[in-house]
Amino acid sequence: MQIRDLTSEDSNAAAVLWHQSGLTRPWNSAKDDLQRALDGETSTVLGAFHEEQLLATAMVGHDGHRGWVYYLAVDKGQRGTGLGRRMMAAAEGWLRENGAVKVQLMVRSGNAAAFGFYNHLGYEDADVSVRSKWLT
Ligand SMILES: CC(C)(COP(=O)(O)OP(=O)(O)OC[C@H]1O[C@@H](n2cnc3c(N)ncnc32)[C@H](O)[C@@H]1OP(=O)(O)O)[C@@H](O)C(=O)NCCC(=O)NCCS
Repeated sequence: MQIRDLTSEDSNAAAVLWHQSGLTRPWNSAKDDLQRALDGETSTVLGAFHEEQLLATAMVGHDGHRGWVYYLAVDKGQRGTGLGRRMMAAAEGWLRENGAVKVQLMVRSGNAAAFGFYNHLGYEDADVSVRSKWLT
């Protein structure tokens, strides 16, 4: 198993993985999200590969203080084998190396499995409420 940065050539495989993992929404282009993260100077998308097959991803980016993790996904056939934990360790490592001192992430309400997973890994309720507004 090798963990490396994705490239544009991995975008189809990532989009399939994200769709199958329930992370995509019809009004948002996952491939555009991926390309923006790859193009950014303070972001990337990490992927776990076995024989060039994409098995897991984690998008990471930071604002100089806080780091964020998005699109954490493990192939359904590989879940429960420690790959999610490895991807979070890789994401945290990338953020630490790039100067972030704190890591945050958002979990959609209703994703109880993800809440259980993150709680198990030591993530706590940040006691903040996120506000958002479309700019388009
Ligand atoms: C969430 C997800 C990434 C977890 O990946 P995974 O590879 O199955 O998790 P792991 O096998 O690495 O589990 C790591 C640890 O968390 C524990 N764990 C996993 N899910 C758990 C849950 N729902 N509740 C409590 N503990 C959980 C495991 O038992 C394991 O414990 P251990 O390492 O101490 O033995 C995976 O289920 C997934 O891709 N889900 C769909 C996409 C998604 O919802 N992503 C999160 C978006 S916010």
